[in-house]
Amino acid sequence: MSHQPSHQPCVLLCVTGCIAAYKACEITRLLQKAGVRVKVLMTDHAMQFVGPTTFRALTGEKVACGLFDDPEDPIHHISLAQEADLVLVAPATANIIAKMAHGLADDLLSTTLLATKAPIAIAPAMNTGMWEAAATQENIETIKRRGCRVIEPVDGRLACGDVGSGKLAPVDGIVDAALRLLRGSNLLSGRSVLITAAGTQEPIDPVRFIGNRSSGKFGYALARAARDLGASVTLVSGPSSLAAPSGVERIDVGTAAEMYDAVDSLFTGADLLICAAAVADYTPAHTASHKLKKAYEHLDAIELVETKDILAAMTAKKGERVVVGFAAETNDLLDHARSKLVAKKCDAIVANDVSQPHSTFGADTDKVWWITADGDEELPLARKEDLGYAIIQRAAKLLP
Ligand code: CTP
Repeated sequence: MSHQPSHQPCVLLCVTGCIAAYKACEITRLLQKAGVRVKVLMTDHAMQFVGPTTFRALTGEKVACGLFDDPEDPIHHISLAQEADLVLVAPATANIIAKMAHGLADDLLSTTLLATKAPIAIAPAMNTGMWEAAATQENIETIKRRGCRVIEPVDGRLACGDVGSGKLAPVDGIVDAALRLLRGSNLLSGRSVLITAAGTQEPIDPVRFIGNRSSGKFGYALARAARDLGASVTLVSGPSSLAAPSGVERIDVGTAAEMYDAVDSLFTGADLLICAAAVADYTPAHTASHKLKKAYEHLDAIELVETKDILAAMTAKKGERVVVGFAAETNDLLDHARSKLVAKKCDAIVANDVSQPHSTFGADTDKVWWITADGDEELPLARKEDLGYAIIQRAAKLLP
């Protein structure tokens, strides 16, 4: 039996100038333990904090330090960019994030980042003020939109003595995220994923609607994760202030009926449907053509009719497709979620308790359970962005 040697994945670990630079040594070791080849690139400032000799010894590879430091390879930035399966910048300073956002290319790292076709992940670390500065946050949004995976910093005591956000994410979390990107990047290639997100708005009159507090964050995080894992993704979204991740097709809808029609027309072409939207259960039977006045005699008698259940309607004709629903509950979470799994005949339910501050509508974090006919899996409290990957990976495993 012939055996094809498998390609050893290669991470280009880029270290920038920050106190947390020493943690890149641990990241190197953990990646190597997971069977990854690590090549290290350091900026001039990084070398003020940790020496290239350390990384040379850890990796057994030359450490790339400058644009012109390898006489045998005069276009080093291009060869580094091509060799990597993943470029991981950890720690990433405000400066390199700004350069990435603006496409600057004035040293080995910035030229490599601009040249590479490999996925890029960054783990920012900096003083709280710098992290929270509008410029940094806008730069982060820009690079995320272009597909860069940002491993968010955490709150803690910083080198300057401040306590706040900007501390490098825990090293094992950075390594997990890197491994997910490396291993999973083709998980959904050739697959089509349809996601509903945000809340619907049911108009009462030209200025009022029945709505809910859904922000769309979870649905958008799912869309980003499915895209990163190689799927072609369509996001059917109710009104949301979020920007669609680049490469994701977004279809804007307002009402539950519009969301139903959009999903219904796209379902045939989908392999996986995830209904993350908070769809109104009821809608006014009639929308007034003029703004209703306070004294309007029928204002207290707006007739409501039930909306069509998108999730249940799609599972009724799902065939080989995988369909995942959400259950947002405030009490008896698991019981309600299990009942929904059966009643709506879906393959899995993502259950969350929206009465908890860390899991409520609009929060950046969530605590969820993955519920299937095989049982319940409790996932740790995490950022919705990270949970997006966890959920998509689980849903992908259910695909035929
Ligand atoms: N859902 C849907 N279409 C609707 C209502 C809900 O697709 N008209 C989907 C949601 O996107 C979610 C799941 O159904 O994936 C659960 O929605 P939820 O509102 O929690 O369930 P309901 O069936 O409305 O039950 P209840 O309000 O009694 O909890």
